[in-house]
Amino acid sequence: MIKLTTALQSSLKGSELPTALFCFEEGPIAGAKPVLPAQRKAVLDQAKADGFKGGLGDCASFSSPNFGKLILVGLGKKGDYDAEALRRAAAGLFHYAKGRFARIAVFPADNPQAAAEGLILASYRFLEYKKGEEEKLSEAVFIAAQAAEKNGFEKALSKAALHAEAVCLARDLVNRGPSDKTPQAMAEIAKSLDGSGIKVSVISRAKAQELGMGSFLGVARGSAHEPAFVHLVYKPQGPARKRLGLVGKGITFDSGGLSLKPPQHMETMKMDMAGAASVLAVFKVLPRLKARAEVHGFCAFTYNMPGPDAMKPGDVIKAMNGKTIEVLNTDAEGRLILADALAYASRQKLDALIDLATLTGAVVTALGSKVTGAMTNNPALLRQLLAASAKTQEAVCELPLVKDYKDQIKSSIADLQNIGKARGEAGSIIGGLFLQEFVDGAAWVHLDIAGTAWTDAPSAYCPAGGTGSMVRTLIEYLAAL
Ligand code: BES
Ligand code: MN
Ligand code: ZN
Repeated sequence: MIKLTTALQSSLKGSELPTALFCFEEGPIAGAKPVLPAQRKAVLDQAKADGFKGGLGDCASFSSPNFGKLILVGLGKKGDYDAEALRRAAAGLFHYAKGRFARIAVFPADNPQAAAEGLILASYRFLEYKKGEEEKLSEAVFIAAQAAEKNGFEKALSKAALHAEAVCLARDLVNRGPSDKTPQAMAEIAKSLDGSGIKVSVISRAKAQELGMGSFLGVARGSAHEPAFVHLVYKPQGPARKRLGLVGKGITFDSGGLSLKPPQHMETMKMDMAGAASVLAVFKVLPRLKARAEVHGFCAFTYNMPGPDAMKPGDVIKAMNGKTIEVLNTDAEGRLILADALAYASRQKLDALIDLATLTGAVVTALGSKVTGAMTNNPALLRQLLAASAKTQEAVCELPLVKDYKDQIKSSIADLQNIGKARGEAGSIIGGLFLQEFVDGAAWVHLDIAGTAWTDAPSAYCPAGGTGSMVRTLIEYLAAL
């Protein structure tokens, strides 16, 4: 990962560092005050002569008599410009510079945090199983005109580093092979976060049985590995402004169980613990964030496997809140483990619950791979979360919890059935309505990240694989409380 530092422009005089300037398609260079207007024209003329058009993330480098080596980085059209454009342009800069230069200097336009996020997140690589090719670029120095600006840059860089550290932990955990992240191993990772304001407890199978978590344990029956239910608590130094719960789906591999998935659908199912990975990622940085809310994390970890004692379609199980569930499809397992996770969380009487789950393929059909589906029983809570997502520019779209569809999950022999009666209709909403049965009236938002937690195609600041979706948004939301 790239290291980001700051320096005063005066201290870089005479250095040979290639210097990056961000520049709109229409010409003007953004936020590099020390470059005088008269010289800007000469710089741009030369870049244009080299074929640079300023498209988002495009880069061109050349030597200029006044400034030494320059890298111009396109921001695209001025009218389309926002923090996300800068994030992507900075990612373009990283990819351009990574094989060319060991260190670069950067004038970070008007938003040093976004520029820093683009650079760091683009530099993420998953190297647990192979050695990546050496990249030349190891450091980017953000150039400040004076001390006050330098201070501002330092704050922005540490915020960006915090966001990126969390996102990259989530990506690492999602990318890890399924046999290398047993529920026990995930619980160990959670335990390693214990300390500095965070307490972690792990509920074993026996304790879960005592608690009546028959729905969670039903899913675990098909696996040779013990499940693990993790409860993390972060307490702020002062009085807590709010008490909040984050609930994560932690299926460490989803084979579908006896309702087995076809091979192609299974290829990426190591990502089915992305919700829980995001919860752990947030906890990793909560103490440094100095969040003023008390935050509880609930991660339900188990494999969904078709082992000898696996749950069978037709089985009826009982969740911790006493509700019985007829399991008609063992591949609708996320809602089963979340049923107990939400019921357990609701007993803590928190002010709000937010769950993150790769719950339904239907949300990919509805919203694609760039938009998270959100459902809620509390519009005010969702509004707060959407305000945070507007800042981080992670797209979130609400789907309605249509009351009329509740009949879809009524069973003739149990309180609920785990799939809807009208197959192929409103699958994500059906999933949300099912979860709602277990929150006991708590203010709650369900985030279906099945589309956004994983990407087959690399994008500006995310390689193919786990994305760490919604991690930045959750951090932004918690920081604002
Ligand atoms: N983990 C899957 C959902 C999923 C699908 C995540 C694609 C990421 C990409 C979930 O457990 C599942 O299998 N859901 C079923 C539900 C159905 C049986 C009602 C689905 O979406 O097909
Ligand atoms: Mn499934
Ligand atoms: Zn699943």
